[in-house]
Amino acid sequence: MYSRIAGTGRYLPATVLANEELAQRVDTSDEWIRARTGIRQRHIAAADQATSDLALPAAREALAAAHVDAADLDLIIVATTTPDMIFPSTACILQAKLGAATGPALDVQAVCSGFVYAVALADRMVAGGAARNALVVGAEIYSRILDWSDRRTCVLFGDGAGAAVLVPANSPGILSTHLHADGRYRDILCVPGQVSDGAVTGNPFVQMDGAAVFKHGVKVMAEVAEEALHANAMVADQIDWLIPHQANIRIMDAAAQRLGLPRERVVATVDCHANTSAASIPLALDVAVRDGRIRAGQHVMLVGVGGGFTWGSVLLRW
Ligand code: ACO
Repeated sequence: MYSRIAGTGRYLPATVLANEELAQRVDTSDEWIRARTGIRQRHIAAADQATSDLALPAAREALAAAHVDAADLDLIIVATTTPDMIFPSTACILQAKLGAATGPALDVQAVCSGFVYAVALADRMVAGGAARNALVVGAEIYSRILDWSDRRTCVLFGDGAGAAVLVPANSPGILSTHLHADGRYRDILCVPGQVSDGAVTGNPFVQMDGAAVFKHGVKVMAEVAEEALHANAMVADQIDWLIPHQANIRIMDAAAQRLGLPRERVVATVDCHANTSAASIPLALDVAVRDGRIRAGQHVMLVGVGGGFTWGSVLLRW
C-alpha cells in the first residue's frame, strides 16, 4: 500500500507588508531585499490570529479538494515553530476547531523542514494502514518571533499556512521520503529564548548566520534531492517540478543549478510569501496545483531545509 496527496489548500492573512513599507521602518530598501532574496512582500497575521487560525482555512480547503470530511480524519500533524501555546499542541487545537475528534494529533518541530518531516510521518502511517485519512499542515506566524528592528532578519519572513490530505493508494503517490538532521549546526539558525519561572529568558527572536545558512542550505538541499532520485533510479531530468523550501530565490536557484534543473521547473512563491518556514512548501505546492502547473502523472520533488539543522525530501508522482 502507498499514500498519495488527494488535496491541498492554503491560507494567507489579509495584511500584506510590501518591501517599500518595511523600508520606512528599518534601514533597508526594496532593491536590496529583492536583489538578495527575491522577496517583494509578505503576509502578516492579525493580532487576534493564532497559528491554528491560519491552519484552519488551509485545512478546510485541502479537505474539500480531497473530498474528505473532517469527521473522517484519523491523523492530524501540524508542522510549526510558532505554536499557539506551549501546550496543548496546535494540532489538538486545530482538531477541535475542525470537529475532527478523536484520532491522534501532534505537532512536528523541524523548523523550515517541518512539512517534509510531517508528510514523511503521515506517509508511513497511511501506507502502513495505521491511518486512512491524514491531514498535514504547515502553519507559521514568524512575525511574532522577529526583531522588527533587525534588518538582517525581519525582511526575510512572513506568515501563512498550507495543507495537504493524504489517503491510501494502490500505486504511488509518494515514492519515497528522506529525512536528516545535524544538531551540530543548531546555532546558525535559532530562537534561543525560553519561558522559565514566568518570564522569557534568553533571546526570543530569530538569530541567523546568513552566510552559513546559505552555504549549508544549498548543499544539503541538492544532496537530499539526489538521494531521492538515487533511491528511485531516476535522473533530475525526470523531475517535472522542484518545490524547494522558499527561503530565498538565490538559495533555490543555486540548489536547482546543482541538480541541473532549469529555473522554469522550480515553483517559486517566495516573491509574494517570503519565507514562511514550515508553511512555505505546502503554500507553493497548493499554488502550483491550483494554477494547473502540476498535472496528473508528473513527478514532484519537495525539498525542505531549516533550523536544527534539518533537511529532507519527498518525491511523489501526482
Ligand atoms: N537591507 C539593507 N542592507 C542589509 C540588510 C537589509 N535588509 N541586511 C543586511 N544588510 C547589509 C549588511 O549589514 C551588510 O552591510 P555591511 O557590508 O556594511 O556590513 C551588507 O548588507 C551585506 O550583508 P551580508 O549579510 O553579507 O549580505 P548577503 O549578501 O550575505 O545577504 C542574506 C544576506 C540575504 C541574509 C544572505 O546571507 C542569505 O540569503 N542567507 C540565507 C539566509 C536565509 O535565507 N535565511 C532564511 C531562513 S533560513 C531557512 O529558512 C533555512
